[in-house]
Amino acid sequence: MPERLAETLVDLWTPLIILWITLPTCAYMAPMNQPHTLTTGSPLGLSRQSEELRILNRSKRGWVWNQMFVLEEFSGPEPILVGRLHTDLDPGSKKIKYILSGDGAGTIFQINDITGDIHAIKRLDREEKAEYTLTAQAVDWETNKPLEPPSEFIIKVQDINDNAPEFLNGPYHATVPEMSILGTSVTNVTATDADDPVYGNSAKLVYSILEGQPYFSIEPETAIIKTALPNMDREAKEEYLVVIQAKDMGGHSGGLSGTTTLTVTLTDVNDNPPKFAQSLYHFSVPEDVVLGTAIGRVKANDQDIGENAQSSYDIIDGDGTALFEITSDAQAQDGVIRLRKPLDFETKKSYTLKVEAANIHIDPRFSGRGPFKDTATVKIVVEDADEPPVFSSPTYLLEVHENAALNSVIGQVTARDPDITSSPIRFSIDRHTDLERQFNVNADDGKITLATPLDRELSVWHNITIIATEIRNHSQISRVPVAIKVLDVNDNAPEFAAEYEAFLCENGKPGQVIQTVSAMDKDDPKNGHYFLYSLLPEMVNNPNFTIKKNEDNSLSILAKHNGFSRQKQEVYLLPIVISDSGNPPLSSTSTLTIRVCGCSNDGVVQSCNVEAYVLPIGLSMGALIAILACIILLLVIVVLFVTLRRHKNEPLIIKDDEDVRENIIRYDDEGGGEEDTEAFDIATLQNPDGINGFLPHDRRGLLRGIPENAA
Ligand SMILES: *[C@@H]1O[C@H](CO)[C@@H](O)[C@H](O)[C@H]1NC(C)=O
Ligand SMILES: *[C@@H]1O[C@H](CO)[C@@H](O)[C@H](O)[C@H]1NC(C)=O
Repeated sequence: MPERLAETLVDLWTPLIILWITLPTCAYMAPMNQPHTLTTGSPLGLSRQSEELRILNRSKRGWVWNQMFVLEEFSGPEPILVGRLHTDLDPGSKKIKYILSGDGAGTIFQINDITGDIHAIKRLDREEKAEYTLTAQAVDWETNKPLEPPSEFIIKVQDINDNAPEFLNGPYHATVPEMSILGTSVTNVTATDADDPVYGNSAKLVYSILEGQPYFSIEPETAIIKTALPNMDREAKEEYLVVIQAKDMGGHSGGLSGTTTLTVTLTDVNDNPPKFAQSLYHFSVPEDVVLGTAIGRVKANDQDIGENAQSSYDIIDGDGTALFEITSDAQAQDGVIRLRKPLDFETKKSYTLKVEAANIHIDPRFSGRGPFKDTATVKIVVEDADEPPVFSSPTYLLEVHENAALNSVIGQVTARDPDITSSPIRFSIDRHTDLERQFNVNADDGKITLATPLDRELSVWHNITIIATEIRNHSQISRVPVAIKVLDVNDNAPEFAAEYEAFLCENGKPGQVIQTVSAMDKDDPKNGHYFLYSLLPEMVNNPNFTIKKNEDNSLSILAKHNGFSRQKQEVYLLPIVISDSGNPPLSSTSTLTIRVCGCSNDGVVQSCNVEAYVLPIGLSMGALIAILACIILLLVIVVLFVTLRRHKNEPLIIKDDEDVRENIIRYDDEGGGEEDTEAFDIATLQNPDGINGFLPHDRRGLLRGIPENAA
């Protein structure tokens, strides 16, 4: 039974044994604590380990049975022996053949099929390929029949320090503010090493500074670069070149190294105050310079840059603070002195200003170093200029009554030469502004007189320009606008505001308002118009009409009695005197025409015997008469036709068609027959009002109403 069990076990545990081989570079490997021994985990396999294996046995260190190791970059004269395959089926009778397949089998790794020795026949690079997976099998030498299932194992390529550290992102640039304290972090850099980071020290890097001391330092492990000197001054030196080295093998000698450069630029802080280039500036300016003109520029220099160099300029003292101002030009970083108020050489010939430049952005860290500002003195000399005449006022407003006499004085302008020489002045009118030559000006004293009569009702304003010229220098001229307002005088009489036409109804009642009229006056009295109306003295006791003034300044004309008749008198003329309230008052007489007309009962005017009366729709009376006549003619024809037909068909009607007869005579329910038809009066049907008989039939209903009291 135990024998059978042993046999079964042999079958179960594929008894391939891979033997450890001492590598020629074994000594180098020693510190790596790595076994180079391969064996099976099978108890059978272990029991058959060879003598050789036992000598170099390191089983205590936890062998991995299916790994082999080979050093990278090995280049000896002979191929390097990686390991040996061995199966415990091999009785040494050379009946077994070993076969190798998988990654690099035959090309990189070669097996001696009898001994099972595996050689690397090529140089290996871990950084290229770190491990190879291979399959080993033992077959019968003659039959090639597999003696056991294939067994997979790995050959690992072991690292040597064959790669130097590299700064992949270099060269570097960094900035740090000037005046930083010692130890201020600037930046950090990173080098990479292609060697195995988990195995040995080949990738363990240590950083150091080769160039750039004593200004900067680097932390050996983290590669953080810091300032090594306090208060580095940008204004003294702005840029530093730092050379950094990374060395592997933990920085020990024999390690490989790489370098990079780091350019450190100091950034500006406001550690310098502004300083005027000069302590005294001289400017001169003609007295007639235009306000706002730049008179001069002052500049305070600042060693800082950007906003740290920006200063604002101010006038802080002096006898010209009211006349001058200084503005800061941010672009040029200087101060521009400008004129704010007019200069007068004759009054003051020079000014002194104290100007200040002060930094705008002050760093509190350095404010203790003293004021970040500077002052300078500016002397401004005013130069005399030949100035044009000056009027006593920038504009003049004159008033004149429209009835002013010719050559009467309307007003006066005055001007003087402001220069010390004080030339006499001559005045004239700019004739482009007085094309009608309405005015004259006295050349010597500037008195303006009336040249042609004025009419306020034509033009209220006469806006002219007066020119003043220096006699000694004709190029020195000034102009001034003079607005002349024409004042009203009562020189127009009132009259009817419109052409009124009044109608009077024959059937009107006494006291009825016939017409309301208003008046107008071209004048423009201060307190508005107030009109008085009256009848002519000889008409005061007019038996037919009377007048009544209304609240709103208008006038109503009333009929005094009834019984007006066109046959008696068709038209009345009523003269009315209208008077204004001027001083003296003016009056005129306007005549109102009153027509007598026939009206309907409710006072709608029907006819005034006016043939050329034009209706609102624009048809003439003649045309309407023609149309009406046509209609009536047609009706007459229809009536005649019906009557004739009735006479002709009388016997038939009696017999068989009473309906037809009824239809024809249906004008009047009470009657029938010929008499009814003849008595039918269309005019009566159409216009029940037309009973007075004055209107012919053909005009009926076409005169649109004009009420008796129409305004
Ligand atoms: C003339 O000047 C007056 C006052 O300045 C102004 O009110 C008026 O409109 C001006 N008239 C004309 C015609 O320019
Ligand atoms: C008043 O009317 C009558 C006729 O109706 C006329 O004869 C008379 O002249 C008129 N009087 C005046 C003052 O118009």
